[in-house]
Amino acid sequence: MPVDSNQKVSVIGLGYIGLPTAALIARGGAQVVGVDVSAHVVETVNSGRVHIEEVDLDGLVQGVVSRGNLRASLEVEPSDVFIIAVPTPVAEDRAPDISYILKAARTVAPALKAGDVVILESTSPVGTTEAMRDLFTQLRPDLKMPMQNGAAGDIAIAYCPERVLPGRILVELIDNDRCIGGITPRCARKALAFYRQFVRGQCITTTARAAEMVKLVENSFRDVNIAFANELSVIAERMDIDVWEVIRLANRHPRVNILQPGPGVGGHCIAVDPWFIVHGDPENARLIRTAREVNDGKTDYVVARASDLIDEFPGETVACLGLAFKPNIDDFRESPAVKVAARLARRYGRRIRLVEPYAQALPMEFAGTGAELMDLDTALEQCGVFVILVDHDMFKSVPVDERADKAVYDTRGIWSDQPRRISAAPAGRIAV
Ligand SMILES: NC(=O)c1ccc[n+]([C@@H]2O[C@H](COP(=O)([O-])OP(=O)(O)OC[C@H]3O[C@@H](n4cnc5c(N)ncnc54)[C@H](O)[C@@H]3O)[C@@H](O)[C@H]2O)c1
Repeated sequence: MPVDSNQKVSVIGLGYIGLPTAALIARGGAQVVGVDVSAHVVETVNSGRVHIEEVDLDGLVQGVVSRGNLRASLEVEPSDVFIIAVPTPVAEDRAPDISYILKAARTVAPALKAGDVVILESTSPVGTTEAMRDLFTQLRPDLKMPMQNGAAGDIAIAYCPERVLPGRILVELIDNDRCIGGITPRCARKALAFYRQFVRGQCITTTARAAEMVKLVENSFRDVNIAFANELSVIAERMDIDVWEVIRLANRHPRVNILQPGPGVGGHCIAVDPWFIVHGDPENARLIRTAREVNDGKTDYVVARASDLIDEFPGETVACLGLAFKPNIDDFRESPAVKVAARLARRYGRRIRLVEPYAQALPMEFAGTGAELMDLDTALEQCGVFVILVDHDMFKSVPVDERADKAVYDTRGIWSDQPRRISAAPAGRIAV
């Protein structure tokens, strides 16, 4: 979709969000400068290559760089629109770290002029866009800033969260609906006019604070619902009931839709963003905090139950199936499967084999443990104990006769026809 070619757009932070965004806007025809603090990133992009894996991104970046619509720089330059997409991690104490945003805003401030639009896209705790405005107020007293009471400013400041799925980023950046929050309604309208140039999804305006909360709420909703499934899985296991069957049957209720349990929650959004809400209102965010604790606790529970099974078969080699944070992808960051398998590897060393068709080498968490990568067929030949951590399609397709003699702890419910080898006395027995 065409973007005003007279418009100069700067994208600050050229990561998984910033680089695809910059490249798409450049493809629309705008002059785009991608700014990053990493010289490696800047050099890579300027040579028309990419430093991150994302479907179709390499060809797109090569095209827009060679046509001169996208270039990268270490320095922020005067522009008409600034998009900030830098990291927002949580600190050790679970407090959101907005220092990257404030640092980026400090570099943008000197380049600002009347008429500019600044849009924050980083996932942010509520109030961050206002904090960025306050920083601009300090650094640029010559410019009038927009105020919550509706007072117009010389520049427009807005918040627009990203909800793209890795692997589909270039499609979803265009097709997903957007929620655009302005410090004032006028700021929202200015940002809306910008996004409408390249977004096909609906763009809906609101306040910056509401838009910040929308993003956090989306991921907290997922986290809370997964926590429900994870809690059920522990209770059902103790009661000797197949949780996947229970969920399947309960979901036949027309208004029930329970998600699937697993070894915890991974990725860099769902397991992180709820803490931004908890930190914002610790007294009232009780369910959201508990959900985080339930999901993290599920990982500990899986390690304990898998260890019980491994201890029952001291002579057997153990295959952990899967390391990715969800099925059929090669992303191992913040993966509960990595956490479980690495803890088992530290405890059982050479007895542990990791089966991960999407890994060329083991993540650093396994350094020095003695655990090794192994392909699925060899694991089926050589290992007696299986701990299933990821529901990759390749694992689902193993027929029961190839695994009938294995002792299995299945956290994903993909081998539900597995003959049972252990049975503890179930909880929930009613005395008569
Ligand atoms: N990756 C996703 O799927 C996803 C989805 C939705 C939201 N988000 C959010 O988007 C934001 C960015 O995430 P990401 O995955 O693109 O991060 P990333 O780590 O892939 O990239 C961030 C980039 O910003 C650069 N950077 C850091 N400080 C800078 C500064 N002061 N100036 C210029 N560049 C700077 C880093 O060098 C890096 O290249 C985060 O808040 C994240 O939570 C990410």
